Amino acid sequence: MNVIITGASKGIGKAIATIFAANGYDLFLCSRNEVALYKAMEELQTRFPSITIKAKAFDLSKQAKEFGQWILAQDIEIDVLVNNAGLFEPGSVYNEPEGTLESQVQTNVYSAYHLTRTLLQAMMKRKAGHIFNICSIASFQAYKNGGAYSISKFAMDGFNKNLREEMKEYGIKVTAVYPGAVLTDSWGDYDNSKHRIMEAADVAKIIFAASQLSAGACVEEIVMRPQLGDL
Ligand SMILES: NC(=O)c1ccc[n+]([C@@H]2O[C@H](COP(=O)([O-])OP(=O)(O)OC[C@H]3O[C@@H](n4cnc5c(N)ncnc54)[C@H](OP(=O)(O)O)[C@@H]3O)[C@@H](O)[C@H]2O)c1
Repeated sequence: MNVIITGASKGIGKAIATIFAANGYDLFLCSRNEVALYKAMEELQTRFPSITIKAKAFDLSKQAKEFGQWILAQDIEIDVLVNNAGLFEPGSVYNEPEGTLESQVQTNVYSAYHLTRTLLQAMMKRKAGHIFNICSIASFQAYKNGGAYSISKFAMDGFNKNLREEMKEYGIKVTAVYPGAVLTDSWGDYDNSKHRIMEAADVAKIIFAASQLSAGACVEEIVMRPQLGDL
């Protein structure tokens, strides 16, 4: 079984890679920084020596189709695709720097849209597979400093909903994941000693569970918040 994960060098993407690796899946990974990506790959390969892990650096805001072509060249069956790569640039519509919306949409939406389109024909032919789109609470709720990030995540939700509808008859499952705050580098030095926000492994666990249902069942939406609610 094969799983493709974007933005897998750290954070939620790496946690997802870890749980699939622990369950025997082969991994196909990308992120921009090659050094960090290879380091993550080596770490996973040491922990899980029996699986195959391949990784290549791509900037998905510009090279999503190229990453898709690289995947197609691996000649594998695509069992799971996780569109996770994303960047949080805090700001407000009224004063964020010019170009913030463009760069947020390129990184958070076009990446998933173009990669998925590149891989879909092969998946549709096989009539199998499961696509997870990492959205956010910011995909349906406005909040302070959301700005272009939140707008891009609303768009990601629109992409996900359309894809779910289109893929029903092709046997391809599509699941939107809407996490609230998760402890990753996006949160800098945040002190989570009181477990105020979620851990990346929490998101990974629920995604893995959703990927294990029978062919007739699709988890459409996963909404996760810290136990005490949003910050
Ligand atoms: N953490 C949260 O609180 C939270 C909440 C809701 C949703 N999310 C969403 O969850 C996803 C993962 O977030 P995270 O918190 O785990 O972030 P993170 O720790 O910053 O990791 C982001 C990953 O994406 C990669 N990446 C970023 N831009 C990329 C690009 N243009 N092309 C290829 N790879 C790229 C990063 O590697 P490089 O920098 O080397 O490219 C890294 O591997 C994002 O879509 C985010 O919006 C996060």
